[in-house]
Amino acid sequence: MMILDLHKVKKVFGIGETAVTAVNDIDLEVKKGEIVLIMGPSGSGKTTLLSIAGGILHPTEGEVKIKGKNITRLSEEELPKVRLENIGFIFQSFNLLASLTALENVEVAAWLGGNKDAAKKAAEVLSVLGLKDRLNNLPADLSGGEKQRVAIARALVNDPEIVLADEPTANLDSKMGHEVVMQLKKIAKDHNKSVLIVSHDNRIRDIADRVLWLEDGKFKELAKMVIDPVCGMSIEKRDYKYLYKDKEFYFCSPGCMKEFKGNVDQYPNTSTL
Ligand SMILES: Nc1ncnc2c1ncn2[C@@H]1O[C@H](COP(=O)(O)OP(=O)(O)O)[C@@H](O)[C@H]1O
Ligand SMILES: [Mg+2]
Repeated sequence: MMILDLHKVKKVFGIGETAVTAVNDIDLEVKKGEIVLIMGPSGSGKTTLLSIAGGILHPTEGEVKIKGKNITRLSEEELPKVRLENIGFIFQSFNLLASLTALENVEVAAWLGGNKDAAKKAAEVLSVLGLKDRLNNLPADLSGGEKQRVAIARALVNDPEIVLADEPTANLDSKMGHEVVMQLKKIAKDHNKSVLIVSHDNRIRDIADRVLWLEDGKFKELAKMVIDPVCGMSIEKRDYKYLYKDKEFYFCSPGCMKEFKGNVDQYPNTSTL
């Protein structure tokens, strides 16, 4: 059984001429213990897709199943329970409650999840994440990496089936980012949870079982994407092609191609994404 199963999911924001189709006819299955990474340009629908997968947003069309249970038509009253029992969220901006300590932030989630011994459970999870000495600190007194570990503890405290992470390392320095990447890997590989991550962090590519490319609300084949050697952007193998020493190079714009032609030897080989 799939842990997460999206079938023909579509999300349209607004109506009439100003309507935006953020996610367009997406199929996605995530297995137990699998790490799936979604990459793609800004505005391509990544956050929308993650929100739908996590039961925060209703899709306009299509179905969302978690552990085989269709959550698509559940009401706003029914969804929080499904979320608490099955899904852990980790956000780029941590989303901790500023007036609560690290312990209390996690404890509230455990309590909402029905844990009778919420404080104890919260302290346990925080300790496993190396925050034993930080339990009574407010978020303002924690480093970025510590805040994200509190957020990870909060996401894990109710033992969810799937963890959804939206750019979880984007606000962290490289050392803290590395730690968070390792934690995400542990969640999947040691605890056998499914992890769906939106990110541009190449370290997350290294731990992912699968990498998907989202563009204009649709998945595109990754093999067709290449990196513009001049600006470093990921682009489609389509326009602005230049053959040099029997190797094909692609560019996002005529400007980048011109720049390349002027200094060919300065650029290393392009690689396929
Ligand atoms: N609540 C909303 N109302 C209207 N448009 C939205 C809303 N959320 C996202 N969008 C639009 O949907 C598209 C996809 O957004 P988003 O999922 O945030 O992309 P990403 O996370 O890949 O940057 C964008 O065009 C964005 O402007
Ligand atoms: Mg986003």
